[in-house]
Amino acid sequence: MKLTILGASGHGKVVADIAKLNGYDEIEFLDDDGSLSYCGRYPVTGKCMQAEDVRNDLFIAIGNAEYRERFMERFSDKHMPALIHPDSIIADDAVIGDGTVVMAGAVINPGTVIGKGVIVNTCSSVDHDCDIGDYVHVAVGAHLCGTVNIGNKTWIGAGSTVSNNIDICGGCMIGAGAVVIRNIDSPGTYVGVPVKKIKPDNGRLMTGSSR
Ligand SMILES: CC(C)(COP(=O)(O)OP(=O)(O)OC[C@H]1O[C@@H](n2cnc3c(N)ncnc32)[C@H](O)[C@@H]1OP(=O)(O)O)[C@@H](O)C(=O)NCCC(=O)NCCS
Repeated sequence: MKLTILGASGHGKVVADIAKLNGYDEIEFLDDDGSLSYCGRYPVTGKCMQAEDVRNDLFIAIGNAEYRERFMERFSDKHMPALIHPDSIIADDAVIGDGTVVMAGAVINPGTVIGKGVIVNTCSSVDHDCDIGDYVHVAVGAHLCGTVNIGNKTWIGAGSTVSNNIDICGGCMIGAGAVVIRNIDSPGTYVGVPVKKIKPDNGRLMTGSSR
């Protein structure tokens, strides 16, 4: 099976590793940085827009949620698989959207629905009955307790915890190590234990590099 991965970054490298474990034996990257010839052991064969001509399965491995959404919409006619690391634990009835990656050590418990283009990063957990919107990133080691709802394009920072029965709206950046114990209903950057809003925008999440 052949897979083209858009985004030759560190994240892309991890995605390629999982893709190989999912049975893709021919992998190539596309990236707009012309100086890149390899990502890990896989070749960078062209620029992002060349995805238009690709007949393989396609995966968008871009950390920035805005760019990830843009490319997934742009190439919505392609088949974009969900990539699941075999050493993650996923409940039988959990729903995982297209173009989502679930990394090693992640746990997704029963009744949970994960949208499209989501990153469930290494050793994170999403407990029972959670609803995770499109293009969300649950970063390394973050934990969502039961019945948590996360809006589109929110970033849950590395090592943070969201208490049970919490709603977080779309477009939020939750800082590394944060603890969320109350609902968040306006976009922005939130840090600390318990979290406080420090910025009305989500900084790098929306305006950072495409990689
Ligand atoms: C929250 C975050 C996005 C803020 O980044 P930023 O907008 O560049 O903010 P700054 O670095 O200017 O920090 C602003 C203030 O918040 C504080 N702050 C930043 N991140 C913090 C965090 N995670 N926890 C507590 N305080 C934090 C800073 O110390 C600074 O305080 P000061 O004004 O008193 O000096 C970033 O620090 C963060 O936590 N990113 C998450 C990274 C991550 O999860 N990576 C996962 C990869 S898998």
